[in-house]
Amino acid sequence: MITQRPKGTQDWYGSSMHKRTIIEEIARKICKSYHIKEVITPAFEHTILFQRGVGETTDVVQKEMYTFDDKGNRSVTLKPEGTAGVVRAFLENSLYAESQPTKLFYFTQAFRYENPQSGRLRQHHQFGIEFFGSSSPLAEVELITLLMQFLKELGLKGASLHINSIGCKNCRMTYNEALLGYLKKHEEQLCPTCRERMLKNPLRVIDCKVPSCKVIVKDAPRTIQYLDEECMEHFEELKKLLTELDVPFEVDTGIVRGLDYYTKTVFEFVNSEGFTLCGGGRYDNLIHEIDEKQDIPAVGFGFGIERIINELTTEGVELAPEPIVELYVGILGQDAKASAYRLVQQLRSFGVIVETDYMNRSVKAQMKYANKIGAKNTVIIGADEISNNKAAVKNMETGEQTEVTLDQIAGLFLS
Ligand code: HAM
Repeated sequence: MITQRPKGTQDWYGSSMHKRTIIEEIARKICKSYHIKEVITPAFEHTILFQRGVGETTDVVQKEMYTFDDKGNRSVTLKPEGTAGVVRAFLENSLYAESQPTKLFYFTQAFRYENPQSGRLRQHHQFGIEFFGSSSPLAEVELITLLMQFLKELGLKGASLHINSIGCKNCRMTYNEALLGYLKKHEEQLCPTCRERMLKNPLRVIDCKVPSCKVIVKDAPRTIQYLDEECMEHFEELKKLLTELDVPFEVDTGIVRGLDYYTKTVFEFVNSEGFTLCGGGRYDNLIHEIDEKQDIPAVGFGFGIERIINELTTEGVELAPEPIVELYVGILGQDAKASAYRLVQQLRSFGVIVETDYMNRSVKAQMKYANKIGAKNTVIIGADEISNNKAAVKNMETGEQTEVTLDQIAGLFLS
C-alpha cells in the first residue's frame, strides 16, 4: 500500500512527462501569439464556490468532489475543474476594472472522485482558457481557432469540432417545461438521481451517464428547438463565422455539457470514436451568480492533458524526441575532477547538454555508461589533457576523433 499510488492517479516521468512538457510548450507558444496571459489559482477553494459555480445538481458536485473540513472547520474542496477558481480570481483581483477583454490560460490539476476507467482519472490535468468580457461570437471563434492550431501543431488529425447552443435563462424556462413533460412520461426508467434532478434541473438528466437514462434521453426535446431570438442569432453568427473561416464543424444537438454554468454556445472536440477530448462554452451568467455586482460575459474551454496523450498514442503521432546528451565528459583520476567539472559547467552555460561521472566509475565503465545513455560524443579529461590544454572529442557513432584545445570544445557544438 505504502508504495502504491491512489486509484485513478498517475506518476509523471520519462516519456509521459516529456510529452506533457511538449504539449505545454506548444500551448504556451500559441497563447503568446493570441496575447493570452497565464494564471495559476489555488489547488483548493471554499466549497461554496464550486457548489454555486459548477452547480448543486451536477455529477461533479453531487458525487465527485474531494471535500473536507480543514483544521479551522472550513469546508474546502480540491478543485474539480479550472473555471470557477479563475472566475473567483478575476473578481477578487478586480481584473474586470482593466480594459477588457481579459484572456487567461492555465494548466491545472483537477480532482474528481470518478470511477476510474479508460480516460477518467481521479486526478487529471487540463490546459484551459477563460475569455472574459466579450459577448461576441468572435470570442468563441478565437478559442476554437486556437484549439485548431493547437491540434495541428500537436499533429492530431482525428479530432472534430461539435457545437450546440443551450440558450440563455429565458430559453431554459420554456425548454425545461418541455423536457420535464417528456421526462415525466418516462420517469420509471430513470435512475433515482435523475428522478430527483428532473424536478430541480431537468437539463442535467440529458448528461446522465447511466445507460437506462441515456436511452430515454435519446428522444428528448433538444435545447436548439427552444432558443429565443437573441440566442438563435448568436448561434447563427457563430456558424457563419466558422464557415467563412473554413473551420469544419458539426452541429450536435445532444451536447449540453456536464456543468451548470453554460449559456448559449457549448462545444467539444471529439475523437474518431466520439470520445470527448476537450469541452467548453459560453457562461454569461456565472460571474453575476458569484458576485451580483458584476455582469460580465465569458467563454472558455478545458482540454484534458491525459486525453491528448492517449490520442497521440492512438493516432501514432511521434512528438519531438527527448533531448540527447551531446557530450559525455569522462574523468580520469581524482586530480582532474575539479577541472573536468569546470569544463562541464562551462559547456552547460553555452547550452550544450553535458553529462559526467558522479559514481567514481573507471574510465571503461564511464564509456559504457555514456553509450547506454546515448551520448553522441565523449571526451576524457585527465591530468595530461589539463596540462596540455588539449583533448580528443570522440563521435560515438562514427568513432571519429577531433583533437581540440579545451576552450574550443564548446565551438564543436554551437552552430
Ligand atoms: P469538462 O468537460 O468537465 O469541462 O472537462 C474538460 C476536459 O477535461 C474534458 O474534455 C476532458 O478532456 C478532461 N477531463 C474531465 N474529467 C476528466 C477525468 N476524470 N479524467 C481525465 N480527463 C478529464 C471543464 O472542466 C470546464 N471547466 C471547461 C471550461 C472552461 N468551460 C469553460 N471554461
